[in-house]
Amino acid sequence: MVMVMKIDTNRFMENISATQLLLLSGLLFLLPCSAYASCDELDRDTLLSLSFKAPLNWSASTDCCLWDGITCDPLDHRRVIRLWLPKRGLSGFVSSAITNLTRLTHLNLSHNSLLGSLPDDLLSSLPSLQVIDLSFNRLNGRFPPSSNGSSHLQIINLSSNFFNGTIPSSVLVPSISIFNVSNNSFSGSIPMSNGSNHASLTFFDLSFNDFTDTIPPGIGSCSKLQVFRAGFNGLSGSLPNEILNLADLQQLSLPVNSLSGHIGDGIVKLTNLKIIELYSNLFSGKIPSHIGNLSMLEKLLLHINNFTGPVPSSLTNCTNLSTLNLRINNLTGELSAFNFSTLQHLATLDLGNNNFNGELPQSLYSCKSLTAIRFASNQLTGEISPEIVALESLSYLSISTNNLTNVAGAFRILKVCKNLTTLVLSKNFLNEPLPDDKSLGDPVGFQSLKVFAIAGCQLTGQVPTMLAKVITLEVLDLSFNLITGSIPGWMGSLPNLFYVDLSNNLLGGGFPIAFCGMPVLITKEAGDMVDRSYLELPVFVMPNSATNQQYNQLSNLPPAIYLGNNSLTGSIPSEIGRLKYIHVLDLSYNNFTGNIPEQISNLTNLEKLDLSFNHLSGGIPASLGRLHFLSSFSVAYNGLQGLVPSGGQFDTFTNSSFEGNPGLCGFPTGKLSFPESPLPVVSTAQKSNTQGIFKALLFGISFGIFFGIGFGLGLNIDDKRIPFIAKRMMKT
Ligand SMILES: *[C@@H]1O[C@H](CO)[C@@H](O)[C@H](O)[C@H]1NC(C)=O
Ligand SMILES: *[C@@H]1O[C@H](CO)[C@@H](O)[C@H](O)[C@H]1NC(C)=O
Ligand SMILES: *[C@@H]1O[C@H](CO)[C@@H](O)[C@H](O)[C@H]1NC(C)=O
Ligand SMILES: *[C@@H]1O[C@H](CO)[C@@H](O)[C@H](O)[C@H]1NC(C)=O
Ligand SMILES: *[C@@H]1O[C@H](CO)[C@@H](O)[C@H](O)[C@H]1NC(C)=O
Ligand SMILES: *[C@@H]1O[C@H](CO)[C@@H](O)[C@H](O)[C@H]1NC(C)=O
Ligand SMILES: *[C@@H]1O[C@H](CO)[C@@H](O)[C@H](O)[C@H]1NC(C)=O
Repeated sequence: MVMVMKIDTNRFMENISATQLLLLSGLLFLLPCSAYASCDELDRDTLLSLSFKAPLNWSASTDCCLWDGITCDPLDHRRVIRLWLPKRGLSGFVSSAITNLTRLTHLNLSHNSLLGSLPDDLLSSLPSLQVIDLSFNRLNGRFPPSSNGSSHLQIINLSSNFFNGTIPSSVLVPSISIFNVSNNSFSGSIPMSNGSNHASLTFFDLSFNDFTDTIPPGIGSCSKLQVFRAGFNGLSGSLPNEILNLADLQQLSLPVNSLSGHIGDGIVKLTNLKIIELYSNLFSGKIPSHIGNLSMLEKLLLHINNFTGPVPSSLTNCTNLSTLNLRINNLTGELSAFNFSTLQHLATLDLGNNNFNGELPQSLYSCKSLTAIRFASNQLTGEISPEIVALESLSYLSISTNNLTNVAGAFRILKVCKNLTTLVLSKNFLNEPLPDDKSLGDPVGFQSLKVFAIAGCQLTGQVPTMLAKVITLEVLDLSFNLITGSIPGWMGSLPNLFYVDLSNNLLGGGFPIAFCGMPVLITKEAGDMVDRSYLELPVFVMPNSATNQQYNQLSNLPPAIYLGNNSLTGSIPSEIGRLKYIHVLDLSYNNFTGNIPEQISNLTNLEKLDLSFNHLSGGIPASLGRLHFLSSFSVAYNGLQGLVPSGGQFDTFTNSSFEGNPGLCGFPTGKLSFPESPLPVVSTAQKSNTQGIFKALLFGISFGIFFGIGFGLGLNIDDKRIPFIAKRMMKT
């Protein structure tokens, strides 16, 4: 083929006639007239005065129409019409000289490091401007007012900067089709005045700002609007009826505001809708019963509202649905009554934290695209059925806090799911025995599992040894059960394990030395190897303190060992000093004896250390003062003696960290003692001086952020109180 074409081209060249040649040379002769007429001098000088600090081939000795990023109008005295320099490493300010480029139609300086505010007359001085894209810079200040007269602006993108102040609604001139100011700090009302014409607007993005007030009814005049995004603001009131005029609307995205009222059945007339994101608002009432009319719907995100009633059965007609998130509402009804089987594209399903009852819906197991299912915190009953194995892509399953039964059956079935990485079954199976290996059959299983939580079930029996073969395991939570026996040493050799919670069980025996060899906790290299990718859905960790923690990424979980509230005995092995990358060590409420090993001071990443309520003796090693990240510390209720170390973080701990040790003295126990004299005789002068220092220290106590990861993935979830995660995206 290639050969043939080549020959044809040659033949074509040979066959060009003399007249054709003449014509061609005539054209070539004409071209230089325009190509080498130098650019407008004023425009050239203006460009040079912009002095963008970047390697551009802008040299005064060459024609500015040939410079990087410049396009001139060939028909109009070589005036500059386009300044197009995205991603060119530009820094510095946008000089007001730019307004001398009066013929400019296209301006794109996006993805640079431009600073400062924009010239006030930027838009009013450039009457021909059609496109302005300054997104992804570090610009601040106000939105520049536009000229009231004839504007040709079609695209305004100022997104991802640091702009603030209000946006006058006059900037939304009738010609605008794309308006994107997302990810700034704009405030005031949505710029849209009643009665004005926005018939060209197709993309309207105001998300991640501080806009307040209601959604203006003027939105109804945007008859071509396809995408409306205003999430992560302070909008209130209800959805205006005028929104029903937006027949072309494909995306309605208003999450994380204070919008309220009912959605209303009218929305089902907007049959082009693909994405509805209204999560984290105050909406109530029912999900529109005819939502099934929205046959294009791909994402329905209504979580964290106050919706009531059932999942409308018509939803089964939304066959393009890939994400359905209704978590944290007051929805009711028997889940098995809903027919999931038509939702062949459904990948993520979160119906957690509602009041659904009945058995797990059998029809779900024909949704072959499912990767994540979360039913946590409902009133579901029955058993996990073997059909679930048909969901070959299933990676995330959380059914914690329901009333499931037959834990042995659940293990036997789920261990076959090849791609299952997150399994949270906490608070079910009340009082059942953990299955032993024999009853589980083939020892190979759970071959991809990273997170395994089955806490708060009061399960009896021993730590299942089948877990010893789950080499992918990163996070294990067996807390709040009635597990007996000793801590198995094999846990110390699981290559990816970094978070173990065995607290609140009936475990006995000693602290296994093998446990001190957990690869991820002893070498940085092993820690770096762990694949801590994003979870399909977040896991919730109930800490000791009042706030819930939501984890979207496993890497945000602190490396931790929780063994509190068991019956462990013996001494804390000195080998514990090897667990260098551990952040939380909780051995409280056990029967440990002996000294606090000096080697703990080698755990330089430690943020929380709890050794309280044991029978430890001896002194508190002064070297613990080297633990600079330690923000929570307790050795209360042991038999410790001697002086409490001072300096470093120790100056921030209160007496509650040390109480219940009659032999301890020094700050902050309130008992004075000096190493020189075991029975201190302190002069009045010394005493008042010392007390003065104590007061000063107390006054200056800075309580570190309590690192309150307590127990139970998915346990006791009441995530209505979850603070809204990162209100705005990180800017770099
Ligand atoms: C500047 O660089 C561009 C390529 O980036 C080139 O096309 C143009 O001819 C150069 N202009 C001058 C005046 O060197
Ligand atoms: C500006 O340039 C960037 C980078 O090439 C591009 O992604 C963006 O679409 C351009 N803006 C407009 C409005 O065309
Ligand atoms: C607006 O710009 C942001 C980047 O700053 C982008 O993520 C978003 O998709 C844009 N919005 C629309 C509707 O195109
Ligand atoms: C949610 O709705 C129920 C009943 O409709 C009501 O009793 C409750 O107060 C509402 N909760 C909130 C937080 O608005
Ligand atoms: C689904 O759509 C079909 C035809 O459009 C309709 O007859 C049926 O009633 C709908 N199903 C539900 C549950 O709304
Ligand atoms: C141990 O149990 C006590 C009382 O039952 C409780 O206050 C404490 O928080 C528990 N400790 C841990 C580490 O869970
Ligand atoms: C702490 O670790 C260092 C090297 O990592 C080692 O030399 C030292 O002996 C350890 N100290 C204790 C008390 O274990």
